[in-house]
Amino acid sequence: MPNWSKIEAAPRPTLAELFEKGDRLDGLTLDVAGIHFDWSKTHLTPELIADFAVLADEAGLPAKRDALFAGEVVNVTEGRAVEHTAERYEGAPESVARAKAQHARMRALIDAIEGEALGPIQHVLHIGIGGSALGPDLLVSALGQEGMHYDVAIVSNVDGLALENALEHFDPHATIIAVASKTFTTTETMLNAESAIGWLTEAGVEDPYGRVIALTANPQAAVEWGVDETRILPFSESVGGRYSLWSSIGFPAAMALGWDAFEELLEGAAEMDRHFRLTETAQNAPVLAAFADLYYTQVRRLSTRAVFAYDERLRLLPDYLQQLEMESNGKGVTAEGVPLDRPSAPITWGGVGTDGQHAVFQLLHQGTHVVPVEFLAVIEAADTLDEQHHRQLLLNAFAQGAALMKGRDHADKARAYPGDRPSSTLLLDTLDPRTLGALIAFYEHRTFVNAAILGINAFDQFGVELGKEMARAADAGDQDLDASTEALIQRALG
Ligand code: F6P
Repeated sequence: MPNWSKIEAAPRPTLAELFEKGDRLDGLTLDVAGIHFDWSKTHLTPELIADFAVLADEAGLPAKRDALFAGEVVNVTEGRAVEHTAERYEGAPESVARAKAQHARMRALIDAIEGEALGPIQHVLHIGIGGSALGPDLLVSALGQEGMHYDVAIVSNVDGLALENALEHFDPHATIIAVASKTFTTTETMLNAESAIGWLTEAGVEDPYGRVIALTANPQAAVEWGVDETRILPFSESVGGRYSLWSSIGFPAAMALGWDAFEELLEGAAEMDRHFRLTETAQNAPVLAAFADLYYTQVRRLSTRAVFAYDERLRLLPDYLQQLEMESNGKGVTAEGVPLDRPSAPITWGGVGTDGQHAVFQLLHQGTHVVPVEFLAVIEAADTLDEQHHRQLLLNAFAQGAALMKGRDHADKARAYPGDRPSSTLLLDTLDPRTLGALIAFYEHRTFVNAAILGINAFDQFGVELGKEMARAADAGDQDLDASTEALIQRALG
């Protein structure tokens, strides 16, 4: 059992005191795979990092990391290996070979579609939810700025308006439908897929099912639903939903951005995989980031963390990270099923800068909740307007971190800022597929390190099941419901 007592008893100097003491940049900044990491405005110190390194060893982090990359059964509650790194060719040789073969199949199908095997195609309607949508959505919005080979719409919500809004802009005769579902049973996805088939049928498309590409770890279910085997792009059961954008779930991104971009994404992620696997603790970006996370959740007992992307292209990153971090580590028991005696994952939230500054930053600066903030920015601008835009964007990101730390005394307490509020900054040289791949892989590994030290299984998600089951049972009329829920159903649905 890891022993937290030394870390909990460690002195707690303020950030200002830490900066006064000496060079914070040496040891608390790193450059990996085109990303500059700055944790100097956190309360981490070389001593704390050394203590966390001991804790990580006690928690078995090195062995757990090796087991992950070796394809061992690390998702113990579901009896599965966890092999998203094999999708970027870092993992057990047989898993890497399987991923390569599946990618080759995906590439061949994309080439065939480009060659008009399914007729002239302009639009890709991607239907999926959770990990089967958030990853592709992030990729397309982050990297599609330069222009895309196809229009892509990603529909997740079962609210029919989401699908209707997407279909409005698409020509049914020039659309393919990617049905993305690991299980190929998810209610929302299957209902949206059926309605999309209805849309094609009504428009007189001759073979609507012939326009469907299935992205799934359950090819049999896709065949039974009506997709021809040649248009099924399988991926492995050992790739978790929220870790699946590297697999065929990334199909709309590979279609729209081109195969070379998809491969560069994988290569960037692989670079981060190697960094995580091979670099000593004090220089290891995902490990240091997790130490800061754990310091704030476990020692300072802060219950949320915020991520603000000072870049429009990364506006979906906070949404993506919410699933990655909260579905992975929002658990109440250890991997052995023993109740946790300390907090699990914090609540991840956030948004886009500078917008957030004019909406929620009030609480960050003066509220009673202390929230560690992560700022992301990209040195190379995406816009072609006057350079003042990008200059203001970056200066604001950096100034917010400085202000949170510095605070301000004022005789009028309403105008005073407590300061000593922590933040970290991730500064990307440029936002290209390779750097984005490295960035996402960094977050995956950071999530894993948090889980490994807490003893959590980051790879199951049983907490999502109860609500789904009750909705299904209520639909079938055989759920014993409380009076409130019963009355709501009666009022809304009769
Ligand atoms: O309900 C949660 C969840 O199982 C996620 O873990 C997953 O990413 C999502 O639903 C979609 O699942 P599927 O890809 O099987 O449709």
